[in-house]
Amino acid sequence: MARTRLPLIAGNWKMNGLTADALALAKAVAAGVKQGGWTDREVLICPPVTLLMAIAEAVKGSGLLVGGQDCHVKASGACTGDVSAEMLKDVGASHVIVGHSERRTDCGETDAVVRDKAEAAWRAGLLPIVCIGETLAEREAGKAFDVLETQLKGSVPVGATAATLVVAYEPVWAIGTGKTPTTPDVAAAHAHIRKVLGGLVPGAAGVRLLYGGSVKGSNAAELLAAGDVDGALVGGAALKADEFLAIAKAV
Ligand code: 13P
Repeated sequence: MARTRLPLIAGNWKMNGLTADALALAKAVAAGVKQGGWTDREVLICPPVTLLMAIAEAVKGSGLLVGGQDCHVKASGACTGDVSAEMLKDVGASHVIVGHSERRTDCGETDAVVRDKAEAAWRAGLLPIVCIGETLAEREAGKAFDVLETQLKGSVPVGATAATLVVAYEPVWAIGTGKTPTTPDVAAAHAHIRKVLGGLVPGAAGVRLLYGGSVKGSNAAELLAAGDVDGALVGGAALKADEFLAIAKAV
């Protein structure tokens, strides 16, 4: 069956990459994307902010998209060490990840902060990828769907549409662990997310839902074929060009 939503394969490099190796990685991914010549999927990398400008420049014309991993809620001001959505846009970003579980946990980001960051992305003309996901304890307590619903209701700004929102479902226990939910579990979580979005976003059927957590070349085809999965948010496997391109090809 033809897909109605344009798949998005996004690589989150997290805090990895020094100039030489990172540029080589970005160029290798860009070459693969250019060779793929895909019009039926989008491929995005989110490198560390220090390399964003150089990488955006290096991959120009390849079709590979570049995004940020986080942004501040304000456009500018006295916020030492922070980076605004406008700054990301200024150096070539088209997307920004907001509300990644590592930031929710390590930086205490609440749903309200994530929502404000998604709005900041809009203000700057970026497409926010809003991350949600339950912990293992929440899953084992049978609360996963409640957690996803609470996070969505708190993190998705009023006024979101299918064109201005991407949601990434990343079960915290699957991130960097090599563990993934079963395909039916992924499909069930995504169906639940889409149902909740139905009450929040007009045209929720068109919102792209990415799965993230231990996606690699060998499991991508199966995960991407699960119901309501419109792409992947990839961590570790995004740091190897051939592995990341294998995921992009698996769409
Ligand atoms: P891994 O692919 O390394 O599990 O990381 C997933 C992730 O957190 C992407 O944002």
